[in-house]
Amino acid sequence: MRIRYFGRSAFLIEDLLIDPYISGNRSCEIAPEDISCRIVCVTHSHPDHLGDAFEIAKRNDAVLVAIFEIAEKAEETGVRTEPMNIGGEISIGDWQIKMVEAVHSADMGSPTGFILKNRKAGRTFYHAGDTGLFAGMSLIGGEDIDIAMLPIGGRYTMGIDDALRAVHLIKPKMVIPMHYDAPTGLNIDPQEFKRKCMKPVEIFRFNEEKEI
Ligand code: NI
Ligand code: MN
Repeated sequence: MRIRYFGRSAFLIEDLLIDPYISGNRSCEIAPEDISCRIVCVTHSHPDHLGDAFEIAKRNDAVLVAIFEIAEKAEETGVRTEPMNIGGEISIGDWQIKMVEAVHSADMGSPTGFILKNRKAGRTFYHAGDTGLFAGMSLIGGEDIDIAMLPIGGRYTMGIDDALRAVHLIKPKMVIPMHYDAPTGLNIDPQEFKRKCMKPVEIFRFNEEKEI
């Protein structure tokens, strides 16, 4: 599948965009107008995740998937939405999207993560959003995760050591680290995470696209 990383926690997986923090993100040298997608998922309301989600959704006539309180705000601006809450699951196009918990803060609703199952490709992703390590990750480990996108930056989320413990609980076939770029005040080397991780780790450069 085609995966592109924009820095922070922003990914485009085929037609599904997650946490599109594009304008204002110094790691990311593209403009929101350069992105096309059919689905925009937002894990929580912090500006480095909500980012340009409303604008991108509107321009692409994409559907915005987020917790109820964020979806409500999006609808006020004329965005098509699929409101959800933790534990809920919906189906859009080739995707089965489940909202799961994240241990963090948020000013609209609760912080979340997503389990994203692409039925056509037979692939399951877990995007953790911003989170600390939590015991419920062992339940996510029962979801047969192929690729886990995990924050490793520390300070606002898990750092490298807790992310390594998270990998033990989630048991993904592969990990993509995120939320470590310098503008957060974090400046973490993803190579250190890769060296210590028991599972294969795929590190993306900013704006890089890979077929995985
Ligand atoms: Ni956050
Ligand atoms: Mn964040």
